[in-house]
Amino acid sequence: MLSVHELDLPDLNLLEPGSLATKQTAVDDARSKHWLARNPFGYVALRYEDCVAILRDRRFHSAAGLITQMAGLPEDHPMNRDKRESILSMEGPGHDRLRRLAAPAFTPMAAEKLRPFMRSVVNELVDGFAADGRCELVREVCEPYPIPIICELLGAPKEDWRLFSLWATDLLAIFNGNLIEDGPRIMAARYALDDYIGALIERRRSTPADDLLTALIAAESQGDRLSSDELLMMSEAVLVAGTDTTRNQLACAVALFAEHPDQWRLLADEPSLAQRAVEESMRVLGAVRGTARFASTDIEYHDVVFPKGTLVFPSFISANFDDRVWTDPQNFDITKPSASQPHLTFGSGIHYCLGANLARAELQEALPILARRLPDLAVDGQITWKPTTVGIWGPEHLPLRFTPTG
Ligand code: HEM
Repeated sequence: MLSVHELDLPDLNLLEPGSLATKQTAVDDARSKHWLARNPFGYVALRYEDCVAILRDRRFHSAAGLITQMAGLPEDHPMNRDKRESILSMEGPGHDRLRRLAAPAFTPMAAEKLRPFMRSVVNELVDGFAADGRCELVREVCEPYPIPIICELLGAPKEDWRLFSLWATDLLAIFNGNLIEDGPRIMAARYALDDYIGALIERRRSTPADDLLTALIAAESQGDRLSSDELLMMSEAVLVAGTDTTRNQLACAVALFAEHPDQWRLLADEPSLAQRAVEESMRVLGAVRGTARFASTDIEYHDVVFPKGTLVFPSFISANFDDRVWTDPQNFDITKPSASQPHLTFGSGIHYCLGANLARAELQEALPILARRLPDLAVDGQITWKPTTVGIWGPEHLPLRFTPTG
């Protein structure tokens, strides 16, 4: 059987400069030739079916834990010394146990309870500029929006929102590709968040409340519970995985709607389309464009061997446009019926986004409010995009104009 290294494959280097459209064309073109492409680090899985199969194959492990190793940090660097395994990088029974214990705190019902709060946060942010007829959506809505939600979810009071915002910014620097320089502030934020959450855990142990931390403390399965260290890790994971993703996804969705004014009007008139609007915009312009796995052993798949250690990147931006799953995939239309399969922007398999219910609720609440309060939406100048190499992607600046409302 052939090793994957011997295959004749299309090359797909998405790190090279180029416009969004050029990159999407390159991905679509590669997918029409083969189910796999070669990139400078390994291989890109292009078709929906194979992306799902790889994400569900337990022999392919998450590459999230390789970030510090790939950055070449020395052994005694605090990020290696105090390395904490995150849910995103765990595998096997340890990961199953964590998911089993945490899942009840992330149900649709848990997200449902926060919807009125989400609406009030969005409305308050829009109040700040609705009468001006202009805004920079990233700074004025997307950046601030998820922080109060995560704080409310964890049970942290309003006066501490600013602290969480600062910690989130520093913790998220882990994805900036400059760990040698950013390491100290990342670790300082982790220690400060640990102290804060540690104290909150103590308070919740004696006085339970209606929040995620209380639910995680109480989570119990077959006599098993989360330890204090695991509670700290989960809180950090929620802050890191649950802020920048939602921000960027909201900005991506609005940028897409700004190009489709008819769809924006439709959503304003029929807020019940919110659910379809979220799924369709996440399919067409997802903030997470793919993920990374490595072969934990020699793996045979599709009559090809992936030698142990091989990196494989399931490409969501490719899978989400696969015409074996979607009819007319290039067309953004929030009224078309759902496809037989979900989009892959929340991933698939054991690492499927734990916060998907919450993220969906946040977007389903924000989009119809924005559609109603920012009518006749248009881009005011030019959108600047983050480089497509970042893990969580979207507009850097999204200047908009619209007909002023009260
Ligand atoms: C639109 C917003 C979001 C998107 C696009 C998104 C996307 C993803 C994706 C693709 C993964 C899997 C990564 C992989 O397989 O390598 C993931 C995992 C995860 N997400 Fe989200 N996410 C979003 C919002 C959230 C929110 C709001 C939370 C928390 C409240 C959250 C918490 C997590 C956690 C804890 C994991 C790790 C799960 C595990 O490894 O078992 N996410 N997310």
